[in-house]
Amino acid sequence: MSYLIGTDIGTSGTKTVLFDEMGNTVASATYEYEMFQPQNGWAEQNPDDWWKAVYESINDVITKSGVKKEEIKGVGLSGQMHGAVLIDRNGKVLRNAIIWCDQRTSQECIEITEKVGKERLISITANPALTGFTASKILWIRNHEPAVYEKTYKILLPKDYIRYKLTGEFASEVSDASGMQLMDIKNRTWSDEVLEKLDIDKSLLGKLYESCEATGQISSSAASLTGLKEGTIVAGGAGDQAAGALGNGIVRKGIISSTIGTSGVVFAHSDTVMIDMKGRVHTFCHAVPGAWHIMGVTQGAGLSLKWFRDNFCYEQMEQAAMENIDPYIIMDKMAREISIGSKGVIYLPYLMGERTPHLDPDARGVFFGLSASHTKANLIRAILEGVVFSLNDCMNIIKEMGIEATEVRASGGGGRSALWRQMQADVFKTDITTINSKEGGALGVAILAGVASGVYEDVVSTCDHIIKEKSRQSAIEENSVSYDQFYQLYKKLYVSLKDDFRHISNLI
Ligand code: XUL
Repeated sequence: MSYLIGTDIGTSGTKTVLFDEMGNTVASATYEYEMFQPQNGWAEQNPDDWWKAVYESINDVITKSGVKKEEIKGVGLSGQMHGAVLIDRNGKVLRNAIIWCDQRTSQECIEITEKVGKERLISITANPALTGFTASKILWIRNHEPAVYEKTYKILLPKDYIRYKLTGEFASEVSDASGMQLMDIKNRTWSDEVLEKLDIDKSLLGKLYESCEATGQISSSAASLTGLKEGTIVAGGAGDQAAGALGNGIVRKGIISSTIGTSGVVFAHSDTVMIDMKGRVHTFCHAVPGAWHIMGVTQGAGLSLKWFRDNFCYEQMEQAAMENIDPYIIMDKMAREISIGSKGVIYLPYLMGERTPHLDPDARGVFFGLSASHTKANLIRAILEGVVFSLNDCMNIIKEMGIEATEVRASGGGGRSALWRQMQADVFKTDITTINSKEGGALGVAILAGVASGVYEDVVSTCDHIIKEKSRQSAIEENSVSYDQFYQLYKKLYVSLKDDFRHISNLI
């Protein structure tokens, strides 16, 4: 039997899963780490925290499973996208990584747009300049920390830093690199034109691969830390969203995924490069060779619920610890007791600014409509609903682009809640399904590792073979009608508050 490893380097932690060649989970391990917010709207992590979590979790799954290291044929890496890891000539990290949800780079986005030209930028990189993307982070470091930039030998995405630690290779692959905003998306290569106009030396970037290609082999030092065999293949892997989409079987038109992790993402496969000229959704290369994907991203999905849990749900956390269950199960139960519309509370999930549809780094979270009769349960339900409304904004743009959604597959931590899934079915007005594996991104990149190491023939047929529907919930018409009224008000609130968000950001 052959085995494969998928490692997902996320924002709250790294999860490693060991799969057998049928895609069954054999062992899994998760290690958490911190996110630092040195200023309002900033977000950083220490890349060496990711590395420790990666080698410890790989070691853990190998030890727990008893699988022989010779039987593990490949490793696939999935990673939080858009982060900037700068290292010097000796491979030493020069500063904490500025990560995907950081919003400090508005000025650099203006600089990028001026240097490349708005339309030209969209036609090459398929997206407008965004604070979330890597290019603006690179320029911010050059503008504000020139001494760091001066010492920079390579600029890597989070999972590509881990690849370097595992193999010694500087490489990336098209799905994650698309989110750096330095690629020619149509031709799946680095864009010489964008790099030249932004004065970024191409030698700072890694070699670009397709996601299912082999990019290197486990080095002897990584072998002793991880317990893997020296020489094991490391595949290109994918950005977390493309990885999660593969793990959900989003490899052809029609089936769309909706993922509630830290961020929330609606993801559609496309056989051609389709661009929203307003830039409200992203177009990136898919991890399927020759395909692209379109995705709408809401910044604070699971992040909103986690923020509320950590700050306001101490009793629920204590109760959960006593019952040895996840506090989210208790919070979910509380939300179920409240009717649609949370008795008049509407939540805007913009704790970390917003991408789709507003592209507004100054947007902030709002509970609207509070009265003295509301309780914690109302607020929890309002958060669940607000996140779904925000995902619906993404879904509507994707539909506007002419992409059909016959079925939506729920995934991510939020996809485990039947209540949150039913809200999605009712608000999107489509069936919402789950599949036989909950491993999402880890499974997606294990499939890529299987192709890279010759265990599987190709990505699409392997996904078709391994991934099967497990449950289906349909929209309930009367719920859809009720949600619609609150959704209309939800949309209006951002418009009313837009200027005030900017105002308050200038006051602090
Ligand atoms: C996608 C995005 C997030 C991060 C973290 O564009 O920013 O999905 O990758 O999950």
